[in-house]
Amino acid sequence: MKKILITGGAGFIGSHVVRRFVSQYPDTAIVNLDALTYAGNLNNITDIEDASNYTFVKGDITNSDFIHKLFQEHRFDGVIHLAAESHVDRSITDPVSFVMTNVVGTVNLLNAFKELWKGDFTNKRFYHVSTDEVYGSLGETGLFTESTSYDPNSPYSASKASSDHFVRAYGETYGMPYVISNCSNNYGPHHFPEKLIPLFINNIIHHKPLPVYGDGNYTRDWLYVIDHAIAIDLAFHQGENTATYNIGGFNEWKNIDLVKLLCQIMDEKLGRDTGASEQLITYVTDRPGHDLRYAIDASKINSELGWKPTVTFEQGLEKTIDWYLHNEEWLAQVTSGAYQDYYNQQYK
Ligand code: NAD
Ligand code: DAU
Repeated sequence: MKKILITGGAGFIGSHVVRRFVSQYPDTAIVNLDALTYAGNLNNITDIEDASNYTFVKGDITNSDFIHKLFQEHRFDGVIHLAAESHVDRSITDPVSFVMTNVVGTVNLLNAFKELWKGDFTNKRFYHVSTDEVYGSLGETGLFTESTSYDPNSPYSASKASSDHFVRAYGETYGMPYVISNCSNNYGPHHFPEKLIPLFINNIIHHKPLPVYGDGNYTRDWLYVIDHAIAIDLAFHQGENTATYNIGGFNEWKNIDLVKLLCQIMDEKLGRDTGASEQLITYVTDRPGHDLRYAIDASKINSELGWKPTVTFEQGLEKTIDWYLHNEEWLAQVTSGAYQDYYNQQYK
């Protein structure tokens, strides 16, 4: 039986990737490795936890001995690497933990894969999930392509850029087969409410202020998370060796316009007066080094692998809001305890 390691599978995107692989590939054994940090939550994948081709392992990718033993024990044919510290604001207050997990953790995985197969990488693949933030910031026009130069601006994006370089270097130096994908902003169910969309949904539900950084004129390109999982599946199985694929939603929104749309949809769903939630919008101190605009040219993965988003933004946002409204218990659980300390510190 073929065996694939998915790292970070208890997190937001990872849980959707694990679900997809466990259900689409019953003849492939899927091992989900996750340290269960504040962002990892096994409640994200309760629906597949009893599947016969699924195993969960709790462990930290920064622990090289542990990683080495895990690879020797399971002899993974493939790795899909998502485990990371993923929040830009946290990287500004604690950059070192981003270096440890995103850089050192990635190199530990690469090393363990290299040591396991000792140069014979037939039918093997290391798939690295990365971000469009490695390209830095766009002005008012233009799109990131696969050949855009790396120009990261935050400790988070610098750590992801570094990990991308290590993956590429292992390909060049040791002949390790790899694929990298760089994706734009995801949204959808199970998104931890430190990020814009789920944080604002939670705050609207609870009539709390909506903290818009700066003037709100920052632009992001939003993609429904399941469409990202589909793209990873396609590129993992059919992508060209050593290729990079940019993945995006063809869906740019200024933050302030997106926030107003969220307010409008939620007022309707919650039976509130039109304009009620917009009154919660509060302009707060800007994020240091805030990138103005991200936008992806996803034409390569479209033309080579036939991928395009299956869900429109209207459909995706509706599904997302409905999911949060029907899963208030999940929201209450992840916003208790340490979340409150984080929130008070970040938005004091
Ligand atoms: P997330 O923060 O929701 O989940 C990260 C997961 O990694 C968590 O389950 C956490 O427990 C686990 N983890 C963290 N440190 C670990 C460690 N040292 N060892 C083992 N597990 C550890 O992140 P996400 O938003 O799902 O992002 C997943 C990946 O996709 C990341 O690599 C991120 O850079 C990338 N990405 C995210 C987006 C986005 O919009 N969220 C877009 C493009 C790329
Ligand atoms: O582009 C891909 C990246 O998207 C991923 O690599 C990251 O892991 C992911 O976190 C996301 O990064 P962003 O910084 O773009 O996402 P975030 O949700 O934190 O912020 C989106 C925009 O909203 C950004 O311009 C900052 C702004 N914002 C965010 C928060 C949390 C606010 O105005 N107020 C807020 O409270």
